[in-house]
Parts: sequence; structure tokens; C-alpha cells
Amino acid sequence: MKFFVDTADVAAIRELYDLGMVDGVTTNPSLIKKSGRDILEVTKEICDMVPGPVSAEVTAVDADKMIEEGRKLAEIADNIAVKVPLTWDGLKACKTLTGEGKMVNVTLCFSANQALLAAKAGATFISPFIGRLDDLNLDGMDLIADIREIYDNYGFETQILAASIRSANHMSECAKIGADVATAPPNVIKAMANHVLTDKGLAQFLKDIDDAGIKIV
Ligand code: G3P
Repeated sequence: MKFFVDTADVAAIRELYDLGMVDGVTTNPSLIKKSGRDILEVTKEICDMVPGPVSAEVTAVDADKMIEEGRKLAEIADNIAVKVPLTWDGLKACKTLTGEGKMVNVTLCFSANQALLAAKAGATFISPFIGRLDDLNLDGMDLIADIREIYDNYGFETQILAASIRSANHMSECAKIGADVATAPPNVIKAMANHVLTDKGLAQFLKDIDDAGIKIV
């Protein structure tokens, strides 16, 4: 499973990228707002750092304007994936932009039917939002499993990019189901390293090192 990092915080991306943990980046208007940066400028900086796909989202809601914005975003770098919402206009924009050879990430997906339409429209990535379904007491992971089954049934090449990931468990569940990509905030990726028994075991080892005066260098 590829790891994308869901942030526009360049320093946070750099830290994970240097460890080999970043295969791509996803941003959205909320993350751009949080960064306080100009969208074109910060997206260019991210694309210069990370060679994998970098999703940048359009602001328009009508297809023609989304296409215009998508073309402008795609000029930033070859690794831009234009992010469009899963609306009828978004699907039209997806079809046009992928027809021009651009990568398109169709976002705000909350149902298997929406994912089916995105694949038919040639989406490079479909972004089902797990956490926001869980927030409604639905099971976001069921959606990932349903889309995996449907795409595999018909050999759709659209990659499942699991999004709205809120916990380390979400990451391993996505990997078990076979999501192609999971995009998560930096703190969630780092939390994957945590285990209480690791902490407990290390504390005992440190005590024994101290007691025995063990020294290597
Ligand atoms: O990739 C989409 C993601 O940023 C949404 O996450 O936590 O706002 O639902 P969240």
C-alpha cells in the first residue's frame, strides 16, 4: 500500500519523506487554509520535494471552470493530480482532464455507486472518506471493501485512495482490505510506530542497561 501524506505542511512532509514514508501528497482547501500559504506556491514546493502524485483541489463547482482550474494546476508540475469533487460536474471534468493525460483524484466519495461512476469517468484515484462515515456511526471501512470488490470484479484501474483516515488502525485495516493508497495526516503515520508493549519493553531494557552498566560506544 502506498502512503500519501494528507497535509500542506511542507516541514511535516519533509520529515516523513526523508524516512521513505511518503509516496505522494494530498491537499484540500481546508489544508491549504491551515497552511496559510498561497495554493500555487505551496503546491509547487511540495511537487519539487516529492516525485509521487501531489493532489491539488479545484475551487470551482461547474465543469468548465473545474477544467480551466485543473489545467492551471497541472501546469505546476508533471506530478500534479487534479482533485475534483464527486459531483456530476466533477465527473465531467474528470473525463476531460484524464483524456488530456492528466492525473485526476475524485474526492468526497461516500458510496460504492459514486466510486463506480468515478472509475467509468477514468479517474486515476478515487478518495473514499472513512472517518467522516465513521462520524455518522457508519462503517467507513466497509466502503473501502465494497469498492475493492467492485473494482476487482471488472478490472477497473482506478486506484483506491483511502482518505479521512483518523487512526493508525485505519491504516492497517486499509492495507488488509487492499486499498492501493492511504492518505493520512503526519501524526497518524507517526502513531503507527507506537505500541504500549514496545514502551514497556524498552523501559525494562533501559533499566537493565543502567543496572549492568552495559556500554557499546
Ligand atoms: O483527504 C481528505 C481528508 O483530508 C479529510 O479528512 O479528517 O477532515 O475527514 P477529515
